[in-house]
Amino acid sequence: MSEPITAGTESAAVLHVGGGSPYDVVIGRSLLERLPALIGDGVNQVALLYAGDLEQQAQRVAETLIGTYDVLALGLPDGENAKSAAVANDCWEALGERNFTRSDVVVTLGGGATTDLGGFVAASWLRGVRVVHIPTTLLAMVDAAVGGKTGINTGAGKNLVGAFHEPAGVLCDLEFLDTLPAEELIAGLGEVVKCGFIADPEILSLVESDPDAARDPRSPVLRELVERSIQVKIDVVVADLKETGGVDGHPGREALNYGHTMAHAIERATGYAIRHGEAVSIGCIFVAELARAAGVIGDELADRHRSAFASVGLPIGWSGDAGFEDLLATMAVDKKSRGSQLRFVVLDDLAVPRILAGPDQAHLRTAYDAITRSA
Ligand code: GLY
Repeated sequence: MSEPITAGTESAAVLHVGGGSPYDVVIGRSLLERLPALIGDGVNQVALLYAGDLEQQAQRVAETLIGTYDVLALGLPDGENAKSAAVANDCWEALGERNFTRSDVVVTLGGGATTDLGGFVAASWLRGVRVVHIPTTLLAMVDAAVGGKTGINTGAGKNLVGAFHEPAGVLCDLEFLDTLPAEELIAGLGEVVKCGFIADPEILSLVESDPDAARDPRSPVLRELVERSIQVKIDVVVADLKETGGVDGHPGREALNYGHTMAHAIERATGYAIRHGEAVSIGCIFVAELARAAGVIGDELADRHRSAFASVGLPIGWSGDAGFEDLLATMAVDKKSRGSQLRFVVLDDLAVPRILAGPDQAHLRTAYDAITRSA
């Protein structure tokens, strides 16, 4: 699956992303010295766009660059607040003042909001400059940093403006996870377990056999989970970068949205107070129950969803204010971007995803009742 390499005393893995703009994802510990190799040759300036609460970590990254490059360090607002047109404009102005050229490079340091905003700035400046992502959360490592989706939010919704812009490299330094709050790490496992169901059942075996190790940022188990989840994402995006669809009934990149239709509705219902990975966990239970109600999967696979997500401490039930009709209405708005029917990614079997379009209303109701019963 991966090519092991050695950086100092720490071994690292390099996962190669093929396609039209190939790049490497490096996974390991103490990896910052590898950053210049990902930035590449012939670069004069590096714009380091970092999450504002990571001042010290940004300082460490800057220290590895100063001396080789002129470094412009820009702290961004925390979380989703970074993903606005105003923040993007501030970045563009700063790049303009420095005469940032097409041969210069953007480096992002932070969670998914930072990689989304920084990737969008890189995609749009001079119609595209290179970007290297350094994700600092589990969620960003296994999802946002890989695959080239970038974007900002508008008043009408999340990620409505953006571009596909693949990075020039991704550095997943697992040391960042040592200081990540436990609940953020667990939320990131929501996307990891999802990858197990849609493509790599070994992920489920690892989680189920040692859930404590899965939550331990220093364990080899978590490292293997990160590597396997990133490999799942790589395989999917190489086959269908722009989410135009898969072959032979596979949903293509849309498979990564397993559990996300309900997850987005739940996130919206909570005013985005729930963590994304927690909402994904509940959303995956919902689609498993929907598939069970529709006779698509049997009890064993449906029940395995509950036990796998719950084993690492993720929520498997919904007890919020929004009722069935409210969540259905939100999901129905979401569906407009794809057509006239509600669409869900479901499993025909373990690691066999497909699209279920226009499900029976009674099955949706049964699935909703099931997630409220387990709250
Ligand atoms: N986060 C889903 C995707 O990258 O397509």
